[in-house]
Amino acid sequence: MMYDYIVLIGILSTCFSFTNSASIPTQPYKITNVVTRSWDEAIALAKGFATQMTLEEKCNMTAGVGGHCAGFVSPVPHLNFGGLCFQDSPSGVGDGVQFSTAFVAGIHIAATWDRDLFYQRAAAIGQEFRGKGVHFALGPMMNIDRNALHGRNWEGFGADPYLSGENSYYYVKGLQDQGVVATAKHYICNEQESNRTYHPKTGPSQGYSANLDDKTMHEIYLWPFAASVAAGAGSVMCSYNQVNGTQACQNNKILNELLKDELQFQGNVMSDWGATKVGVESALGGLDIEMPGRDGLMGYALLPAVKNGSITEARINDMIIRILAPYFLLGQDQDYPSLNLNNDATRDHYLLNRHIGTAGIILLKNIDNTLPFNMNTEKFYSIYGSAASRYNDGVDPHGLDGLDGALYQGGGSGYVRPTYFIDPLTALLTKARDFHLQIQYVVDQDDYVAINYSLENSGFLGGKCLVFINAWSSEGRDRHNLFAYHNGDKLVNTIAARCASTIVIVNSVSQLNLEAWIENSNVTAVVWSGLPGPEYGSAIVDILFGNYNPGGKLVFTIAKNDSDYGTNITETYNSNYTEGVFLDYRHFDKNNIIPRYYFGYGLSYTTFSFSALMISKVGQENHISQSLYRQRRVSSYSNKALLRFYESVYSITFTITNIGNVDGSEVPQLYLSFPEEAAEPPKILRGFERVYLEAGESKTVTLVLTERDISYWNTVNQKWIIASGKYTVWIATSANNADIKLEDDSLYTYFIDNQRTINHQLVIFGLRELNSTETKYICSNQPITDPPIIDKRFDFTSNYKILIYTSGCYYLDANNHWQSNGLVVGPLTNHYQTQCYSNQLK
Ligand code: BGC
Repeated sequence: MMYDYIVLIGILSTCFSFTNSASIPTQPYKITNVVTRSWDEAIALAKGFATQMTLEEKCNMTAGVGGHCAGFVSPVPHLNFGGLCFQDSPSGVGDGVQFSTAFVAGIHIAATWDRDLFYQRAAAIGQEFRGKGVHFALGPMMNIDRNALHGRNWEGFGADPYLSGENSYYYVKGLQDQGVVATAKHYICNEQESNRTYHPKTGPSQGYSANLDDKTMHEIYLWPFAASVAAGAGSVMCSYNQVNGTQACQNNKILNELLKDELQFQGNVMSDWGATKVGVESALGGLDIEMPGRDGLMGYALLPAVKNGSITEARINDMIIRILAPYFLLGQDQDYPSLNLNNDATRDHYLLNRHIGTAGIILLKNIDNTLPFNMNTEKFYSIYGSAASRYNDGVDPHGLDGLDGALYQGGGSGYVRPTYFIDPLTALLTKARDFHLQIQYVVDQDDYVAINYSLENSGFLGGKCLVFINAWSSEGRDRHNLFAYHNGDKLVNTIAARCASTIVIVNSVSQLNLEAWIENSNVTAVVWSGLPGPEYGSAIVDILFGNYNPGGKLVFTIAKNDSDYGTNITETYNSNYTEGVFLDYRHFDKNNIIPRYYFGYGLSYTTFSFSALMISKVGQENHISQSLYRQRRVSSYSNKALLRFYESVYSITFTITNIGNVDGSEVPQLYLSFPEEAAEPPKILRGFERVYLEAGESKTVTLVLTERDISYWNTVNQKWIIASGKYTVWIATSANNADIKLEDDSLYTYFIDNQRTINHQLVIFGLRELNSTETKYICSNQPITDPPIIDKRFDFTSNYKILIYTSGCYYLDANNHWQSNGLVVGPLTNHYQTQCYSNQLK
């Protein structure tokens, strides 16, 4: 398949022509012959299938069996069912198989902040799983970057639940549009590797317990899983750790109550490999399939439990239906390719991978336009650091030897063995050949004799010095500290002490401490190359020489002090999420801590201006923008009553203009502050769009807020609630208040429903349009009964303001005087009086 976007190869010019991805089509990967059914149809087919199985067959299906895949579900030959293959990883077909594309890591795709690219990467990954006949992909991975040291941060989408949710949503869509089942993992709170499967008291089989409150669970950690379910995910993988003292894979609260009941998840829960600790209790707690099945806890082991009544056959049927429904949902029963893990399914995905690799690179510092290089006048380049080059051993088949050499992914089961790898040094040497540049390099970063010698090389004095540093981590291995590996800081400082134009390229799995050299005035530029996949070399060269204008943005905060993050992995077997919802930028904001670089930050070679912010209720046609950049928050295939919740209630429209001389992109970010009752951080990300603009071009952007986006989790009422009062909308280019470009605090909501009429008091209020004398008053003319009967919602924008609110129904008479209808039902609580501006009472 040819991509309809600009291929970034060889379009070079000495006067810097910038390329962006505005012409990428939205969903080029849709395979038209994939049969998708509704969940209801799929469940009906799965039910019909289950009725033809014996109890033995059904029990057997609840545990994996041996096979070539990471996990395998038993075939049922008499029903013409060949079994199901489950295979890693979130970034491509993994587990060491041949001929896969090693796609950019999760943390890198997130850094593009580009939903089109989220989708396209997932769709290309789906094509490869499908091309090899794999039924379930073991991804996406959406654990939140709570701990900067977590070894698996690179597989996920960063520190913010909204951003992670958007990534998860488009991943599931893209993958499942290819007919491959997505597995949202690791459910839930698997935010560290240390002690993930060991407990000193209970033996080697139990992991640490993540202990957290209900609000934090809903608003931070459950959020991306909810987005996956909304997108129709067929599977969820429960994690190794415990949650609030109970093993995740037998945790009734998180599996049955939160996932299956509250989120209405209709697919299956599979255990992480070896995360099942008991059989019957897990099945009752919500686990549907034990993987890889070697522990003998489920499968046939459930047979006696059914016979002795400890588990009902109905629950076994439910497990089978859940295991098979995704298979029918995505039409895997019809002409699905047969399993061949080493089949070459890579197509021309390297093109997309190169594009995304480039789009996710972040420019952090660029003093006096050090970058992009001008090849007419800047001819001499000295290159340093083992991270510029490849591993000594060539391509590592397991991803576990990443301590040296350029990194394209991290290690562990998330790693995909690439077919090739273009390291930065190779790409720079090629560039030098083609454009007559002079290069010297030292990649042995312990060889300070050679390094010092090179710094005295007279031909290169006054030239550019590129220092490549990295930090690696893996599943099973948290990092020990946040410094660059292999004395990277010493290397930077050594070079910067002698070279007046030192450019540092940071190739890191997640947060890194940059303090040892970031303020050195000789460090004139810093590029965060992230984990850009096997086209790393091509991508970084495009950025450095201006063939691509950087537009990636940080997906976590980079702190000045490691302790500033306020969270860390624990060695105590109890990981207490005491920070609550105050994670990453929310924590820095609350405590007024200035980080080195803010969440959402990233520079460009051009500049942008913002104007004309407007908030309107969705449905007010005059306010609906024609923008191509309307945020797409479409509903799921079928998730019953939850659809309403994802519908847009407000649209936020503004104009962005590229006021520089070159094409480029910006990511306007919508941060929202909530009324006080929501007890939220000062601001929360609730929208973004990567907007590509030619030099001088303007575009109108429309972001939408769904009902869920403006709600908070009310722990008393156990539901999402729109807070009453004033919201502030900020459009910013990072979480730094100094980067706020537009502000509007005219969004008020007032929400009455049966839960909000505390103490059964009568709730009455009136609205008057600004500059109008007409009041639209609304009152309840009868006392609230038990159960309460008021169930109305009113929300409004700056066109209205609240005029009255009290324990009676007031209205304006013909003489514009306030009158009461005399209905008084007792004083309202302070809570309501405060929320509703009682000082405006007449
Ligand atoms: C990992 C999972 C992975 C599974 C199968 C586990 O160790 O935590 O992410 O999918 O192995 O390889």
